[in-house]
Amino acid sequence: MKVTVVGAGAVGATCADNIARAALAEELVLLDIKEGLAEGKAQDMMQTAALLGFDTRITGTTNDYVRTSGSDVVVITSGLPRKPGMTREELIGTNAGIVKGVTENILKHSPDAILIIISNPMDTMTYLALTSTGLPRNRIIGMGGALDSARFKYQLSRQLGASPADLNAVVVGGHGDTTMIPLIRLATWNSVPVTRFLSEEQQKQIVNDTMVGGATLTKLIGTSAWYAPGAAGAALVKSIVRDEKKLFSCCVSLEGEYGQKDICLGVPVTIGRKGWEKILDFGLDSEEQALFNKSADAVRNMNDVLKTL
Ligand code: 2OP
Repeated sequence: MKVTVVGAGAVGATCADNIARAALAEELVLLDIKEGLAEGKAQDMMQTAALLGFDTRITGTTNDYVRTSGSDVVVITSGLPRKPGMTREELIGTNAGIVKGVTENILKHSPDAILIIISNPMDTMTYLALTSTGLPRNRIIGMGGALDSARFKYQLSRQLGASPADLNAVVVGGHGDTTMIPLIRLATWNSVPVTRFLSEEQQKQIVNDTMVGGATLTKLIGTSAWYAPGAAGAALVKSIVRDEKKLFSCCVSLEGEYGQKDICLGVPVTIGRKGWEKILDFGLDSEEQALFNKSADAVRNMNDVLKTL
């Protein structure tokens, strides 16, 4: 397996590090536009191979897409991260051009690759990758829901005193502070609904803390998060290259599922060798469906901005 990570910033490098440590690829290429950055980080990571005991060959390149040729999976993290007080949506003007150029270059050299989109605003960047490339929809996967669901499990684990690994919990909708929908009604602790153990007030707090999970970190650090976004990207790569068919919430193109079309939005999907393989209908109740439709409206407004660029 050959995997490319585009963007050697904090998210891209962390994603690559996780991929190498888990030996998910024989060959891993890190590409960045900034002179020397990807080469330097690739060398640094390779110098951990003897210590950590992995055999993945990591190389870095300054924008030479020929080196990415024949990649099976490509993770796109390029673009600016948000700063404190910024929404993910404010990045659209800068990041749209970058993501469009990157996907074109990648597909020239890896026409069969599955693309994982991390760049923000993630729902719109996923939609842009889909519409500008015309690829079959199952080969374009937006990472947001996988990250937001992990943040949801973290918040639940704190309130419940539970291991995050014992929790099943999914965030659907957009990857924005006001557009994501943590489905607390359906979340379970080893198959028992979490709502059984949490007061209404605790539930509200968990949902709210999940929604602003990224913004809270950004305020503390001064820039957007990277450990969890990088790990979420690598978890998707793992499910693809090992054909695990694990269930994640991912941003995918909807053609009527969940009552929406001509949009990419977070829904539960299985991820395997072919990309996303199956959308699961979680049977939203009317309140959840109304939130999902509202989220779709907000993301659609954002997608419309692409026409003006
Ligand atoms: C986040 O929520 C990077 O959008 C990403 O941290």
